[in-house]
Amino acid sequence: MKLENPHTGALTLEHFWMPYTANRQFKQAPRLLARAKDMHYYTPDGREVLDGTAGLWCVNAGHCREPIVAAIQKQAATMDFAPTFQMGHPLVFEAATAVAHVTPDGMDRIFFTNSGSECADTAMKIALAYHRARGEASRRIIIGRERGYHGSNFGGTSAGGIPGNRKSFPGVVSIVDHLRSTHDWARNAYSKGMPKHGVEFAEELERIVGLHDASNVAAVIIEPVAGSTGVLIPPQGYLDRIREICTKHGILLIFDEVITGFGRLGYPFAADFFGVRPDILCMAKAINNASVPMGAVAVDNGIHDAIVDAAPEGAIEFMHGYTYSGHPLAAAAVVATQKLYREEHLFQRAALLSPYFEEAVHSLRGTRHVIDIRNLEMIAGIELEPRPGAPGSRAYETFVKCFEWGVLIRITGDIIALSPPLIIEKPHIDRIVETIRDALKTVD
Ligand SMILES: Cc1ncc(COP(=O)(O)O)c(C=O)c1O
Repeated sequence: MKLENPHTGALTLEHFWMPYTANRQFKQAPRLLARAKDMHYYTPDGREVLDGTAGLWCVNAGHCREPIVAAIQKQAATMDFAPTFQMGHPLVFEAATAVAHVTPDGMDRIFFTNSGSECADTAMKIALAYHRARGEASRRIIIGRERGYHGSNFGGTSAGGIPGNRKSFPGVVSIVDHLRSTHDWARNAYSKGMPKHGVEFAEELERIVGLHDASNVAAVIIEPVAGSTGVLIPPQGYLDRIREICTKHGILLIFDEVITGFGRLGYPFAADFFGVRPDILCMAKAINNASVPMGAVAVDNGIHDAIVDAAPEGAIEFMHGYTYSGHPLAAAAVVATQKLYREEHLFQRAALLSPYFEEAVHSLRGTRHVIDIRNLEMIAGIELEPRPGAPGSRAYETFVKCFEWGVLIRITGDIIALSPPLIIEKPHIDRIVETIRDALKTVD
């Protein structure tokens, strides 16, 4: 298969300003994907690439699955778009019901967005609206965490804790503070599952709340497992303690489950895996197998009711939304995807496969450059020792080498993050791990 520009015959790369990409470097040696099916991508010249990252933590059911494709095609031909501002269409209600079916009990009010970034901002606005509706409008501070990622919009950038992302946009929303990251390499290196050490990091929330006073704090937003900054798994007991402190002070707990949602940890959500219920839960990506942009925020029914009931009858209760909130194509894909997850028991499949995945990934211990390996269910992080003066370059070269050898991995800094589709088979796991092992042998 040849990729061509229909007008000039040659593919022009300069017009697309690529997101989170070293544009100049990429355009000198582009890596292109043209087609995908199940566990594989295919390059324009037909080379097969095994997907070790479910695209970007999102294609949990594998690529181009027939029922999802068919649902989108049918919907595109039936009704391309319908507004959801003061209007509705049956599928969007059906999609919300399908999502509510898997969210934690009592969290079945669903607000649709188009991305994880929009979910973070939506969730924070819901938290502010809730406190205001209850006469506590002073609660405006949002507490995030260092090395947290909540997307790229202004709210998520501010609450997020990635220095590189924040550097160019300091103080975009000034009312944030941050917990420290739970990552403790010295004590927890090579942990399998939840690390033993670090529950005490949760106590820092008491300090931060004390500093600002609880009457000014609206919400804590954290990823149950931080993915984008390199697979940081919460220490045992940490999330329970964060929950306790939030409850004690009337602070809402927002879980950003954009990568942990829909089976990645063997359950619908990390909230289920950890047994910790947030007040607001953000999801996107795998909600419809990433086939059409879509995100959703699940809200505790009581929080929803407090906001809605505080508004006069006939008034719009929550002044927020997107033209494409509940887009018909995305909604059709949600319904089909959720059905597929159920029928194929994909979440349970993830749980069953995860011990094999864990052993395979930890077999890389002792391989050149590897300084830590950590994993939880179907997520793994392999940390490399950075090159002096050139952080990230070693992982980047490993990533390029793996791609050349037919395996797609994800890197963040010097950490390799693996999150394969949940339809993965054991030989695929072996191939991913062996390719990384071989690549590390060739990279200086
Ligand atoms: C935890 C988390 N939140 C938010 C986002 C942003 O999602 P999106 O890129 O769909 O805006 C991501 C993306 O990886 C994420 O991992």
